[in-house]
Amino acid sequence: MLRTLMMATGVALTLGASTTVALAEGDVANGEKWANRVCKACHTFDKGGKHMVGPNLWGIYGQAPATVEGFDRYQAAPLFAENGIEEWNEETLTEYVADPEAFRQKYAGGHESAMVVSLPPKFAPDVAAYLKTLQD
Ligand code: HEC
Repeated sequence: MLRTLMMATGVALTLGASTTVALAEGDVANGEKWANRVCKACHTFDKGGKHMVGPNLWGIYGQAPATVEGFDRYQAAPLFAENGIEEWNEETLTEYVADPEAFRQKYAGGHESAMVVSLPPKFAPDVAAYLKTLQD
């Protein structure tokens, strides 16, 4: 998945644009629609929203993994930071939500987690673009 993504955005990346710019083509409205459909069982998205099975995701963009204040049920996410995921940006969010299981294999040694998604992977960039809007 990441490879496909990198290939699709390779031109922009090699031109020296930042990853954020290169991947900024996700459809925010479609991402919001899918987030409401498949993420809301476990996450809230509003500022100050409560933590549920997963942490509140307002402001997640630009943060390091597993640093949402007040959420104490992290499983695999703390390992992401130890294995090279410095922050949640469009690239890392897209790779994660497209296939959390594969992401955990790669960055957390397959550590178990309650995060399971039924998102068609092709909409992952849209969801990432939506998450990017959740900040002041
Ligand atoms: C079945 C519950 C569940 C669903 C559905 C779910 N998540 Fe999660 N999510 C979690 C849990 C639990 C964690 C903490 C994961 C861990 O530490 O292993 C998490 C973590 C995350 C994180 C990392 C948070 C951090 O602080 O580093 C992001 C980003 C995220 N989810 C986005 C999403 C998105 C976007 C969707 C929908 C496409 C989604 N999740 C669907 C339960 C869920």
